[in-house]
Amino acid sequence: MRSHKCGELNTQHLGQTVALCGWVHRRRDHGGVIFIDLRDRAGLVQVVFDPDMAESFAIAEHVRSEYVLRIEGIVRDRPEGTHNPNMSTGQIEILGKHIEVLNESETPPFPLESDIEVNEETRLRFRYIDLRRTAMQQKMKVRRDVTRNLRQYLDDHEFFEIETPYLTKATPEGARDYIVPSRTHQNSFFALPQSPQLYKQLLMIAGMDRYYQVVRCFRDEDLRADRQPEFTQLDIETSFMNEQEIMAIMEEMIRRLFKDIIDVDLGDQFPVISYSEAMRRYGSDRPDLRIPLELVDIAEEMKGVDFKVFSGPANDPNGRVVAMRLPEGGDLSRSVIDELTKFVGIYGAKGLAYIKVNDLATGVEGLQSPIVKFAPAEVWAKVMAKVGAQNGDLIFFGADKIGIVNEAMGALRVKLGLDRNLLTGPWKPLWVVDFPMFAWDEKAQRFTAIHHPFTAPSCSVEDLVANPGTALSRAYDLVLNGTEVGGGSIRINRTAMQQTVFDILGIGHEEAREKFGFLLDALKYGAPPHGGIAFGLDRLVMLMTGASSIRDVIAFPKTQTAACPLFNAPALVSEEQLKELGIRLRNPAGKTEKQD
Ligand code: AMO
Ligand code: AMP
Repeated sequence: MRSHKCGELNTQHLGQTVALCGWVHRRRDHGGVIFIDLRDRAGLVQVVFDPDMAESFAIAEHVRSEYVLRIEGIVRDRPEGTHNPNMSTGQIEILGKHIEVLNESETPPFPLESDIEVNEETRLRFRYIDLRRTAMQQKMKVRRDVTRNLRQYLDDHEFFEIETPYLTKATPEGARDYIVPSRTHQNSFFALPQSPQLYKQLLMIAGMDRYYQVVRCFRDEDLRADRQPEFTQLDIETSFMNEQEIMAIMEEMIRRLFKDIIDVDLGDQFPVISYSEAMRRYGSDRPDLRIPLELVDIAEEMKGVDFKVFSGPANDPNGRVVAMRLPEGGDLSRSVIDELTKFVGIYGAKGLAYIKVNDLATGVEGLQSPIVKFAPAEVWAKVMAKVGAQNGDLIFFGADKIGIVNEAMGALRVKLGLDRNLLTGPWKPLWVVDFPMFAWDEKAQRFTAIHHPFTAPSCSVEDLVANPGTALSRAYDLVLNGTEVGGGSIRINRTAMQQTVFDILGIGHEEAREKFGFLLDALKYGAPPHGGIAFGLDRLVMLMTGASSIRDVIAFPKTQTAACPLFNAPALVSEEQLKELGIRLRNPAGKTEKQD
């Protein structure tokens, strides 16, 4: 149907007769001459129709936005002064000779110009039109380039791409499962995988040595800007490699990816920091290292002060008191500080104390804050020295349970860094290692796995049993600009250790057999030392394209409420279908709880 694509034409094609297909991006009537910007995946080209081609001109007069056309014409130089440097085809235009309407279009629900804001619900409902926008086409192209590049690297390094089932059993990654009823096994359900974790481990036991898969994962969890209920992982597993070897080969893959696709140099060796250092300095296990602000512990200094808000947490083993210096923050107005106080409140902070550093030379006189009076001058002098205060700075303080201080002050750190343009560079990757094995769930009064229950500890079975609360794991996360883009670990490859971890997690022998019997069995048949990682592919593409939401790099994403406005999914199913599955609804459509 066509000889060229619209967006690929240039001065090399001058004089050629071409046939193009595409959509009407814009049509302009310039008193006797009609201009059509014709668009396809490669881009736009301007087509001109003169009235002397009467028949074509008449058709051109009637086409509207998003009509689908086939046009034949001659590539010619644009008249002097009408070159458009913003268009790749801006040097040339097509003198239209023949035009055929392949299909008409109703007026699109929103214009396709890239700078026009459109409500997201509408974009998703008409996603097939939204995806025609240049910005979306570019993102899809980057996504294609990214997966191709990653596959190439892994193929070159002798990884096998192997598919694993979607209809499976619960795979614990900390979220709720999406479940699928079985017709052939009434009352039984499949779960969609939260990740292929156990399959990839079984593939290592099966001697596949190196595996990868670009794979959909399903997690029913609260959604955020960087989370989707179904998302794509680049999932990887290797045998006979330790964590340093795995991190090195993966780091090289990511470095190459950024260089090849967006010409970004991520630096020689990514810094590696421990979980405890990350929490101490940044209040987060996925710190954004572009931001130069840090939390500084001042509990020692605050233990004896007359201010309960500080001395309480300072003397509580589960408490934390920190200061954070905002260089040149003295200019923050009262109302901005009030806003920030509200902001930390979202994370449970009960307040946000601060000191304006006016003049250090004059001691406490030079410190401006209602809290200065609560502690002696030498305490403030120590605190100022510890945070490295300078005249003109603002020092923020957080005091509470450790978790609240980390969340609130960690979030404040990021907010101030972004709001005040403090970023020290465009890209800051790092590895976070030495995570604890378990977190204590106060409400449930039990341990939960920080990574997943198949992660190996860095200690023996005996030490793990003796000190589960302080044991560290052999897990590693790759963090980029404050986003966790990947996470993995060395796995447990012995039954006794796996059983011990289940025990600590409160999964009894019977339950473990029922849920993971296949794994416990497999570990008995020569399971090699193995480990791996999974990258959030959508998150990587989101960062690489500068998208503000993960939804912008997924062709057909779900909304914040995990629905698809285009297909109207999820949806009711027929009574017959339910009957066949042996399912009776608790609240059939139209009936309220009470009527039931
Ligand atoms: P984890 O749960 O850390 O590890 O997931 C790996 C990576 O997947 C991405 N990710 C998500 N992306 C979008 N939406 C979500 N809801 C979502 N959840 C996770 C993140 C994350 O770093 N089986 C292990 C991996 C392993 O141990 O090898 C796992 O799934 O970028
Ligand atoms: P108050 O004496 O409660 O009015 O608090 C004095 C200052 O301490 C105010 O600026 C509060 O915002 C701040 N503040 C109160 N609770 C905390 C807390 N848990 N952490 C940090 N600052 C706090």
